[in-house]
Order: sequence, then structure tokens, then C-alpha cells
Amino acid sequence: MVLSDRYAEYDTWAWLYNQTMGGQYCQNQLRPLERLLLSKLAPNAKLLDLCCGTGQLVEMLAQQGYQVTGLDGSEAMLHYAQQNAPQAQFVLADARSFQLPPLFDAVFSTSASLNHIMTLDNLKAVFQSVHASLQSNGLFLFDLNHPAQMEKWWGGQVAEGEIAVNYAWSITPMYDAIDRTGYFQVAIFQAPQAEQINLFKGSIYRLLNLSLLTRLRLKVLSQFQNWEQNWQRSSIRYSVRGHTVEEVESALKSVGFTEISVQTIDGDPAIDANHSAYFLCCKST
Ligand SMILES: C[S@@+](CC[C@H](N)C(=O)[O-])C[C@H]1O[C@@H](n2cnc3c(N)ncnc32)[C@H](O)[C@@H]1O
Repeated sequence: MVLSDRYAEYDTWAWLYNQTMGGQYCQNQLRPLERLLLSKLAPNAKLLDLCCGTGQLVEMLAQQGYQVTGLDGSEAMLHYAQQNAPQAQFVLADARSFQLPPLFDAVFSTSASLNHIMTLDNLKAVFQSVHASLQSNGLFLFDLNHPAQMEKWWGGQVAEGEIAVNYAWSITPMYDAIDRTGYFQVAIFQAPQAEQINLFKGSIYRLLNLSLLTRLRLKVLSQFQNWEQNWQRSSIRYSVRGHTVEEVESALKSVGFTEISVQTIDGDPAIDANHSAYFLCCKST
């Protein structure tokens, strides 16, 4: 594949993702992974982490004895993944067109990575590639944000973020229910290299990062350029699509997956606007 075909959008966010979301998202995903997937596999099963990002999950699973390969379209994300999981294999490729031999006992994709796939045809292409990379009876698990959930929570307000001594970041999600597309905007603020750390402000920022003060922190972050006028601000938007549960199920069936189940992170088959949807399916013989 030529490199311009790959999904490189995360290259600019990679350094920050590696030290913030990477570890945190990995912790969030372990419980559903264990319950829905790992409990059904042999202890040394071959796993593919599709859209593996900075590889913290790859490393955690490799430590548990699984043979894990990570695939991602971002060279910079994989640079950190290789550092985080030095024993694992990594593949730089696009999820929409990768080709791997049918070696894997299971493929998984976490943290709503497949919401970045912007059309149903492209989602089917991802599913086709996953299907081809699985052994007979192999399992595929992934989570997605769905339209009702995005309509409720993606309203253009700062939803996540952190303030450190010399950098800050925030994420603002936005969704258009009519065309079922949206984006989240990542804003990154960086202090000038030579700036002296202001101890008073540093202590306030540390306090603001307490989970008790989340609402206040997000408020401060929504106007952070007023707090730190010398800090350099950059931002990037990541496009996403809200795929409905029904169209995802039908796309999975169309490429040959069977035994499709959908549930929340807590195992509830009723998917509501407060939960994302976890899809589990099988490549039957
Ligand atoms: C939200 S991050 C999730 C990373 C990791 N799974 C985690 O849970 O922390 C989304 C990842 O998907 C990757 N990605 C998105 N679309 C892709 C595509 N079409 N092909 C390959 N990678 C893709 C991005 O490069 C990024 O690393």
C-alpha cells in the first residue's frame, strides 16, 4: 500500500495521546475485553489489535501471554506502540484495506476507533479484511459510539481534558444528527520553552485535575487561551460517523460473520443513549 493511502491523522496527536489517553483508555477496555473475548480464548491465543494506537493494550495482553500484533494507520502512534510493547509485532496499514493471512484467533478494536470509518461501504471493507485475517471460528470484538448516544453527548461542549504545568489539552465533540456525521476537536496548548513555571498557577492546575473538580476544569479549558495567553494553541479535528446498530449488524452479516451479539460495557443487550455498543461476532467454518 502507498503511504498516502493510510490513515495518518493521529500523527500530530501521538506524543500527547501516548502520555494521556493511551494508558487510560487501555485500563477502561480491559474489563470488557476479558469478559467478552479473552475468557473464550486459549491462554496463548493470537490476537490482532486493529487501530492499536500507542500500544498500551498490546503490551498488557502480551504480558499476559497472548501473541499480539498491533495494526494502525498512524506511523507516529506506532512509533510509541513499539516503545511500549517492544516484543510485539506491528503493522502500518489502513484498516479499510489491510491484508493479513488467516492467522488470528481473535481481532479486536477498542475506544470507538471504527467511528473514524466514514461510510458504510468502508466499514464493510474493514469487516472484510478482518474476516480474511481470522482463523475459522475466530472472534471479532469492537465498540462503537452510536447515533442516539452521540446526539445526546456530542453537543459542542468541552468533554475531556487535562491541565499540566507546561501543557494542556481538551476534547470537544460535535455531532449532526441529520447527516449522522460529526467530529471531535482536540485543542493542545503548550507553554513557551523558556517560560518560568508559575508556582501559584501550577498548584491551581494540579488541584483542577482532581476528578472532584472536573466540571470546573472543563470550564477553564473551554477558555484556556484567556488564562495562558502566551501558550501556543493548536487544534485538529477528527471526523467520525454514527453508524446505527442495525446497519453494523447487517454489514457484518454481509461479509460472512455469524453469531452477532450487541451489548453495553456492562453486558446489557439494551443499548441506550448513555452507553456505547460492543459488537461480538464469529467467523464460522
Ligand atoms: C481513538 S484512537 C484508539 C487507539 C487505541 N485503540 C486505544 O484504545 O487507545 C484511534 C486509532 O485508530 C487509528 N485509525 C483510525 N482510522 C484508521 C484507519 N482507517 N486505518 C488504520 N488506523 C486507523 C488511529 O490512527 C488511532 O491510532
